[in-house]
Amino acid sequence: MSLGSLKMPGCVYTGAGALDQIPVILQENQVKKIALFADKGVSDAGLLAVPISNIEKSGVPYTLLNDLPPEPTYVQAQKLVDQCKEIHADFIVAVGGGSVLDTAKLASVLMTDAYDVKALLDNPKLAEKFCKTLMIPTTSGTGSEATPNAIVAVPEKELKVGIVNERMIADYVILDAAMVKSMPRGIAAATGIDALAHAVECYTSNKANSFSDLFALEALKRILSSIEKACDDREALAEKESMQIASFYAGVAITSSGTTAVHALSYPLGGKYHIAHGVSNAILLAPVMRFNEPACRQRLAQAYDYCFGADPQLDTAAKSAAMIGRIEEIVRHLDIPADLKQFGVTMDDLEPLVEAGMGVTRLLNNNMRPVTAQDARDIYRQVL
Ligand SMILES: NC(=O)c1ccc[n+]([C@@H]2O[C@H](COP(=O)([O-])OP(=O)(O)OC[C@H]3O[C@@H](n4cnc5c(N)ncnc54)[C@H](O)[C@@H]3O)[C@@H](O)[C@H]2O)c1
Ligand SMILES: [Zn+2]
Repeated sequence: MSLGSLKMPGCVYTGAGALDQIPVILQENQVKKIALFADKGVSDAGLLAVPISNIEKSGVPYTLLNDLPPEPTYVQAQKLVDQCKEIHADFIVAVGGGSVLDTAKLASVLMTDAYDVKALLDNPKLAEKFCKTLMIPTTSGTGSEATPNAIVAVPEKELKVGIVNERMIADYVILDAAMVKSMPRGIAAATGIDALAHAVECYTSNKANSFSDLFALEALKRILSSIEKACDDREALAEKESMQIASFYAGVAITSSGTTAVHALSYPLGGKYHIAHGVSNAILLAPVMRFNEPACRQRLAQAYDYCFGADPQLDTAAKSAAMIGRIEEIVRHLDIPADLKQFGVTMDDLEPLVEAGMGVTRLLNNNMRPVTAQDARDIYRQVL
């Protein structure tokens, strides 16, 4: 078992009325000026009304910063950070999916002229915390509210790149199901499979340890039993709540363990073809887990026992196969594209994809089965 460490946000609120904690949090930090991070999708979905009314109750002035595209480049993230610097906020509230939360996390360590997002790409250790943060996720999800990671696109490398520094871990998190209740099915499906990938990858990572196992397994159990209903049924509040908790747990698992080859091979698909993070992971999840299976059989069988109960009729190989079968069933059910054709990716793109994917060594090193360039080529070929 690997060495484990557990780093968590300072305080996490969940359950009915969790958003009402906003004034309490602002008061206990004696906040004078808030930078409220969001994006147009979040604003248009009406998701800012309750957070803003709670901010107004506290009487603390705020400035809304929501000019952010989904999955921003580091230049687009820097633009929002610069706007944040101008307003001299002493506290950041972020309401959104991973794109908003990651940008807000970057801003919390960038209220300085000493370095910028580009410098953090080269040396994430530079990050010093300047502003406390409250993260309110609206997707379930990236788990960004739990992690020390911020992911930005780097167009010149045609990659998504993760900036990792524990100073970016949120000080406060509010998990309120009201924020994910009306998420459109396509977004719920893609972001839900991202959380599923986090849980499976963290449990089958070389860095898996007792702490990450606890969170990854519980996330996996919740997701396997609730993802379809949470996406299909607008009224399925219990399942949506469970997905929200699961995506947070999977984020904690990332912090303690790490994702593996699914995320590594997915990064070029986001960076070059702008395929949404959850969608590219969904396309790669089953093919990579089939590749990983011989090295992860025991772990997948243990996960099966945890999620479905021990079944003496099934041996290790059968349980492991059943776990991968269940993942494939979920991806099919949620109508996520099964391959890359509709995104304009062709065989001509294969070699650049292999080269870029093999460059994501930070995550490939976590994969229990070593991945060669030929293996990456074979995996991409299956989805072209
Ligand atoms: N920091 C981490 O640990 C981590 C982990 C995984 C992924 N990520 C990153 O997070 C980003 C993706 O985040 P995401 O998958 O949450 O999507 P997103 O934040 O990019 O949002 C996708 C779209 O959904 C809209 N949206 C969000 N919540 C909504 C809601 N409740 N109702 C209606 N519309 C809503 C947004 O406005 C946006 O248009 C990527 O950049 C990815 O690389 C970060
Ligand atoms: Zn992810």
